[in-house]
Amino acid sequence: MATIVTLTLNPSLDNATSTPRLYPDGKLRCARPTYEPGGGGINVARAIRKLGGEALALFPAGGPTGDHLARLLEDEGVANRPLPISDWTRECFNIVEEQSGQQYRFVMPGAMLNGSEQDAVVAAIGALPQLDYMVISGSLPDGVDGDYLIRLVEAGQARGADIIVDSSGKPLRQVVSHGGLALIKPNLGELAVLAGVEINDQDQIATIARSLIDAGKSEVVLVSLGPQGALLVTASDELQIVPPTVKKQSTVGAGDSMVGAVTLKRSQGASWRDAARYGVAAGTAATMNKGTELCRKADVERIFAWLSEKR
Ligand SMILES: Nc1ncnc2c1ncn2[C@@H]1O[C@H](COP(=O)(O)OP(=O)(O)OP(=O)(O)O)[C@@H](O)[C@H]1O
Ligand SMILES: [Mg+2]
Repeated sequence: MATIVTLTLNPSLDNATSTPRLYPDGKLRCARPTYEPGGGGINVARAIRKLGGEALALFPAGGPTGDHLARLLEDEGVANRPLPISDWTRECFNIVEEQSGQQYRFVMPGAMLNGSEQDAVVAAIGALPQLDYMVISGSLPDGVDGDYLIRLVEAGQARGADIIVDSSGKPLRQVVSHGGLALIKPNLGELAVLAGVEINDQDQIATIARSLIDAGKSEVVLVSLGPQGALLVTASDELQIVPPTVKKQSTVGAGDSMVGAVTLKRSQGASWRDAARYGVAAGTAATMNKGTELCRKADVERIFAWLSEKR
């Protein structure tokens, strides 16, 4: 089995609950909370696990919240390596107002990583055995920038890994401009920021993706387009993948499910076309589930079969 590691610099312990109605000042009595692991790379590893594969989730973790997060991953059977830090892992809150059905998502700033803790993450990658894929996914905590991401990319490459990045904003721009990545999965907004232009038509997406590939920034660009699926661009290929219409419940976790599925399928020796189809299937499957639930394997396989027949 190929070795996949995911890196999450800004993990969180996600709490979800509900209350009849949100109003100021009074006590808001909430339902018993549920706890879930959160953060890009962590969710990518969870999605891979749900699809029958295995990935090691590497992440900084501090305090009892960090311990709780690692314990939740343990319970799900996700291989995990928490790297101790002094700041406590953040908690984020999802609160559903029962009366309206509306969801409120409170996102806390992430735990700080001091200089030696940042070095420890790089060293932890360096200490891993030979890797096939390293997925860097999610936001960055304050004090960590694109230059640091580049150090992580180089550490992963030194272990032999193909690097897959799903991030946004300036850090994504910096790490892409450094180049040498295997795959990036920007959504439309992230691609526009990456290219520094407004995107108004479909042709432009492919042109931007191709220019990144030609400049050696990434071998493959998979632009996710929400309900429209995704556009796969490689040096020699271009494919629009349009998913079937499904009953959408929640799009939370769609991007992470997609990245997990693409990485897993590719690691099993699939073509980029099939890996991207599997990714679109997983993203779409994730939208069929309520709340933060990631994709279910049976849904992914069914949609993948449908996309494969359409080719
Ligand atoms: N409304 C939808 N209907 C069907 N499929 C969807 C929908 N939204 C997302 N998807 C699927 O999930 C994939 C990833 O979604 P999207 O393009 O929204 O990524 P993202 O913006 O990175 O998401 P995230 O907010 O999870 O990071 C899409 O390529 C598609 O396959
Ligand atoms: Mg995303």
